[in-house]
Amino acid sequence: MDNTTSELAASIRSIPDYPKPGIIFRDITTLLGNPRAFRRAVDELVQPYAGTKIDKIAGMEARGFILGGAVAHQLSSGFVPIRKKGKLPHDTVRIAYSLEYGVDEMEMHRDAIEPGEKVILVDDLIATGGTAVGATKLLRQIGAEVVGACFVIDLPDLGGRRKLEELGVSVHTLVE
Ligand code: PRP
Ligand code: ADE
Repeated sequence: MDNTTSELAASIRSIPDYPKPGIIFRDITTLLGNPRAFRRAVDELVQPYAGTKIDKIAGMEARGFILGGAVAHQLSSGFVPIRKKGKLPHDTVRIAYSLEYGVDEMEMHRDAIEPGEKVILVDDLIATGGTAVGATKLLRQIGAEVVGACFVIDLPDLGGRRKLEELGVSVHTLVE
């Protein structure tokens, strides 16, 4: 592990049996509250895309909003929220998905992306990949070109990264 990886890993708190028995919850509030770790995480997330024109960052509710907003600012891109169902006021596209500890539905505004726009997905963590795969399908449904996805944390045993790569999305992560 290099210095940045170990500093980021040390700033993430692990909570056993949350939100359900058997889940080890990786809590990034401790990373976000540490100015140095937060800046490092954002700098590392944007690194592969520096110098590339990215039209929009799509962030998944809720932790993807915090990191995605910072990444969008750094890349001078727009930001598109992908929200849990029932929160967006205009015409939406919706998809059901499952994640490590449940099932849900997510939505985005149908007019959030112009066809052909280049989009990067941002979230704090990829586990089963249910959330990121669902988001990729929604984005493609409205004509986005999903050029990549980045996450602070990958839980490799849960296979999400592989599922996303099988859909042709290149994946960038900072800590396993
Ligand atoms: C968490 C995390 C990812 C997702 C990853 O979000 O922030 O979005 O789970 O899991 P997966 O790879 O198995 O789909 P959660 O739905 O708990 O929402 P929150 O950010 O609102 O807590
Ligand atoms: N989302 C899915 N699995 C998670 C985990 N183990 N910790 C935090 N967020 C998650």
